[in-house]
Amino acid sequence: SAAEKGGWDSFMDKEIHEDPAAVQRTLLGRFDERGDITLDEVRIDDHDFKSIDKIIVIACGTAAYAGQVAKYAIEHWVRVPVEVELAHEFRYRDPILTPRTLVVAISQSGETMDTLMALRHAREQGSKVLAICNTQGASIPRESDAVLYTHAGPEVAVASTKAFVAQVTASYLLGLYLAQVKGAMFRDEIRQILDALKDMPAKIQWILDTQMTAVHEAAADMVDAHSFLFLGRHVGYPVAMEGALKLKEIAYTFTEGFAAGELKHGPIALVDEGEPVVFIVPPSHGRDVLHAKVLSGIEEVKARGAYIIAVAERGDKDVERYADVVFWRPECPTLLSPLVDVVPLQIFAMDMAKLKGYDVDKPRNLAKSVTVE
Ligand code: G6P
Repeated sequence: SAAEKGGWDSFMDKEIHEDPAAVQRTLLGRFDERGDITLDEVRIDDHDFKSIDKIIVIACGTAAYAGQVAKYAIEHWVRVPVEVELAHEFRYRDPILTPRTLVVAISQSGETMDTLMALRHAREQGSKVLAICNTQGASIPRESDAVLYTHAGPEVAVASTKAFVAQVTASYLLGLYLAQVKGAMFRDEIRQILDALKDMPAKIQWILDTQMTAVHEAAADMVDAHSFLFLGRHVGYPVAMEGALKLKEIAYTFTEGFAAGELKHGPIALVDEGEPVVFIVPPSHGRDVLHAKVLSGIEEVKARGAYIIAVAERGDKDVERYADVVFWRPECPTLLSPLVDVVPLQIFAMDMAKLKGYDVDKPRNLAKSVTVE
């Protein structure tokens, strides 16, 4: 009913507008009297956490893209190798698991059968499993050794939105928790990142308040496009993959997400006059090298007549010069940028689906939770 949708047209609308709250609620109540990070249910002791020498994130769909963001952050902060694997691939390839491997299972519903079977396999091999889950008491958290709940609230629309930003937030918390337990970072450094993290809900809100006109324009311009390419580097790569997934899930448009560096190794062959290409452009401060590299990709496709949609930092003059439409992001640390960058892409997918007259909450052929293998 309309009341359940909180006055919005659809659950997806409502849930995207809850992105800021989902991040905020996931950060809430995570600190003890000493200001140290705490998890929800931990049946892994500090000694075991300290001995972890490899992390494997297992998940499906959107949750797996949250896992890819987790890899960039956790490896950078904790200096422990992180692999990310689709749960159904992991389970059947005889993965190397030891008691020193931490398996992180990410799942909104906590009932995805592929992920549940993978976590059971990991525990049988003696590895510890930590769940990042949005559903209290679901099978995945129940069968894990530790749980970090995302407090995004129930997600009804089939395409995952607020759960994704909450999963990414929880992944950052896990990374900082491990850095704390393993002594991989100074307390001050952890504090600094946490402070930046606490600013993210307001930054997401800024996007929802100011960038919608640009998003609607791009959707109206491109509603008849037959295919889309999404490109990003570093943490922008999983964001590109997630943006591509959203659009194919609900607007039934053929999309491909790529690492922007791969452009010249294949995807550029697809670029023709008017082909829409979405670029996630890294902040121009700090990681100038990456910014310049993504920019040269933009120039390459522009020269071939592509229609360019860019997600870029406010005031990025270089991007403004080439892009047909820009979705601006407020300044934030590169590692945290997925929390803001995914938001206009969620809205974009929803707009496209609505313009085509589709039911955005219940896309054809898809289920909210896939409880069969
Ligand atoms: C289904 C849903 C996706 C979701 C995936 C994983 O495919 O349609 O939106 O990302 O399952 O679900 P989970 O509940 O494990 O996060």
